[in-house]
Amino acid sequence: MLLETERLIVREFSENNWSDLHEYLSLEQVLKYEPGGVSSEEECKNMARERAEGDCFWAVSLKETNKMIGHVYFGQQEPAEFKTWMIGYIFNPNYYGKGYATEACQRILEYGFKELGIHRVVAMCNPENASSWRLLERLNMRREGHFKKKAFFKRTDDGQPIWHDAYQYAILNEEWSFIV
Ligand SMILES: CC(C)(COP(=O)(O)OP(=O)(O)OC[C@H]1O[C@@H](n2cnc3c(N)ncnc32)[C@H](O)[C@@H]1OP(=O)(O)O)[C@@H](O)C(=O)NCCC(=O)NCCS
Repeated sequence: MLLETERLIVREFSENNWSDLHEYLSLEQVLKYEPGGVSSEEECKNMARERAEGDCFWAVSLKETNKMIGHVYFGQQEPAEFKTWMIGYIFNPNYYGKGYATEACQRILEYGFKELGIHRVVAMCNPENASSWRLLERLNMRREGHFKKKAFFKRTDDGQPIWHDAYQYAILNEEWSFIV
């Protein structure tokens, strides 16, 4: 499966993507709002292999150079009959501020709503992660919830959870169709 935009190719992962993946998953700053920590080369090799076999992760590459600059998670939520997908993304900071993440996610939403007949797409993000919720708003997703102390990814030195809030965003098929 391959999706094309003006500047990007959005497609299934390949094992060879591991080094481009490692370039940004080895940076603390990129993972500030993610559950896990940085990944080693070995972990990125395994990740690229697993993602190549699954169907939830899309690799985003520049058309001009074929460089993989980020990835998008687009996975179906349970129960399947609700036809609800979740979207998430991590990009290489060398390529921030150019609209690439927006362009890739827009294309994936189009694929989801038009080709897969999805009913609803949701996303969650930490309110402190303004780059993330600004992206969701560029995608015309609606902020529909502010959950207080929704989750924790880290603990204090004495083992206490460091809770953080979460925004929930969503867009329905009919909302997306109205916009495009
Ligand atoms: C979230 C993330 C992908 C957003 O990256 P980003 O570069 O801000 O998003 P885009 O690629 O869509 O670029 C948008 C920016 O480029 C600018 N831009 C330039 N050309 C553009 C174009 N042709 N189209 C759209 N925007 C353009 C926009 O104005 C915007 O800048 P601004 O934020 O200063 O207003 C990135 O910050 C990231 O990977 N973070 C780490 C992982 C993470 O936190 N993931 C989310 C977990 S919930």
